[in-house]
Amino acid sequence: MHRPFIPGLGLAAVLVTAALASCGGDEDGVPPTPDGGSVVDSGNPPADSGTPDAGDDAGTGDAGADDAGTDAGTPDDAGTPDAGLPDGTVPIPNALSGFGLFTGTPATGGLKPVEGNIPYALTTPLFSDYSVKSRTLYIPPDAQARYSASDVLDLPVGTVITKTFAFPADLREPEEDVRVIETRVLVRQPGGWEAFPYFWNEAQTEATLANGGRVVRDVRFIGEDGVERTLDYLVPSKNQCQKCHHVQDAQENQVLVPIGVKARYLNQDQDYGDGPVNQLQHLADLGRLTGLPPVDQVPREPNAFNPEEATLERRARAYLDINCAHCHNPKGTAGTTSRLFLNVDNTDEFTLGVCKRPGSAGGGVGGEFDIVPGDHSTSILWYRLHTEESGKMMPELGRALRHDQGSQLIADWIDAMPARACK
Ligand code: HEC
Ligand code: HEC
Repeated sequence: MHRPFIPGLGLAAVLVTAALASCGGDEDGVPPTPDGGSVVDSGNPPADSGTPDAGDDAGTGDAGADDAGTDAGTPDDAGTPDAGLPDGTVPIPNALSGFGLFTGTPATGGLKPVEGNIPYALTTPLFSDYSVKSRTLYIPPDAQARYSASDVLDLPVGTVITKTFAFPADLREPEEDVRVIETRVLVRQPGGWEAFPYFWNEAQTEATLANGGRVVRDVRFIGEDGVERTLDYLVPSKNQCQKCHHVQDAQENQVLVPIGVKARYLNQDQDYGDGPVNQLQHLADLGRLTGLPPVDQVPREPNAFNPEEATLERRARAYLDINCAHCHNPKGTAGTTSRLFLNVDNTDEFTLGVCKRPGSAGGGVGGEFDIVPGDHSTSILWYRLHTEESGKMMPELGRALRHDQGSQLIADWIDAMPARACK
């Protein structure tokens, strides 16, 4: 019953490794060698959000009990025979290796995606306390993703997406002395998406399911600016995944969804071993993506920190979109409570925060209005992005440290707006 659902760990794995080695920068593959640093598992799971979810056991009972026929989102998925169970349900293993998505471990020279488990990077990623992240996308061999110009790709039952978080001892040498902390997994089951946190052991030989989350005390690293930083790193609990990975459906139910696998963030080159190729084109060439228009017609968000790619305005909006809009959008919980919409396609100045008084009262957040055009120093939006004070900082989850570059970008963006007094 629990047969590995990904057959064949062939040569392609080697190619993928080559791709990871050559893609460079923040989005590099998970590099080797644990640093054996002073990581203490406190055993205190962070408080859960109370978001109802499928239950905390690792079993697949919930999804398995769902009728595959009620799965509205994905056409043509009935009867895909490749996954673990007849209806396409992917069995959720207790150890990450049980997915069969990787060979090797960080302890033995690196975590290598198997053939068909495709590494990808985003033009602008979410900031997560300066951790180095690597992502992979696995779509079952006889199924395909469907292109969407504005939304996340429509991914079939059996899809598994992973995101691995690691801290190099020194970010200026991201391949050296790396500790891999966690791998987050999103699985497309017949009944919808499910989210799972896996926590890497200190020996860096295996990651195990940690539904309650973890606090990793005293993670230390040297930043790109040469400054040493220390933080208590939070591995979110299973329930907390949903705080960001959610939208409200038509019945106002919270539904778990992926966030970053959108064409406009995937629209860039990556070297899979044969020279740079567009990531979306690569998926289409592998037969994993249908409906892709010529890539020069696909929308693209810029790298928020590369002034050669786009204007300050577009870069700032891309940054807010990927870092904030999963909560701050018309269908997100923070969107419905605060009416602050930071999604990149919001063209309404007021709900973007300009001269908007915050919906949620509370003093000491740097000003009276979310954005005061021309003056970041009195803009709440900048203040909450900049501060490290819990209860005030934004995002409210997923960071303990300030993103200096992000804070600067948003300050520059607000300062460049024609100055205007808010009333
Ligand atoms: C603070 C908000 C936040 C929390 C909490 C969070 N995520 Fe995410 N996650 C994101 C954002 C934003 C992206 C897309 C940007 C990126 O990949 O950098 C993402 C991307 C991912 C991806 C890659 C696929 C995708 O959606 O783009 C996976 C897999 C994932 N998250 C799993 C999880 C799991 C499992 C948990 C809980 C253990 C979790 N995440 C908690 C914000 C969050
Ligand atoms: C995990 C969900 C989540 C994410 C991600 C998030 N926020 Fe929020 N945000 C909230 C919630 C909930 C509130 C309302 C409660 C409060 O003010 O603390 C809020 C309120 C705010 C407010 C006050 C707005 C108003 O008009 O009431 C600002 C400004 C803000 N967020 C900025 C940001 C920025 C900038 C980012 C990205 C860097 C961000 N938020 C990311 C959940 C989130």
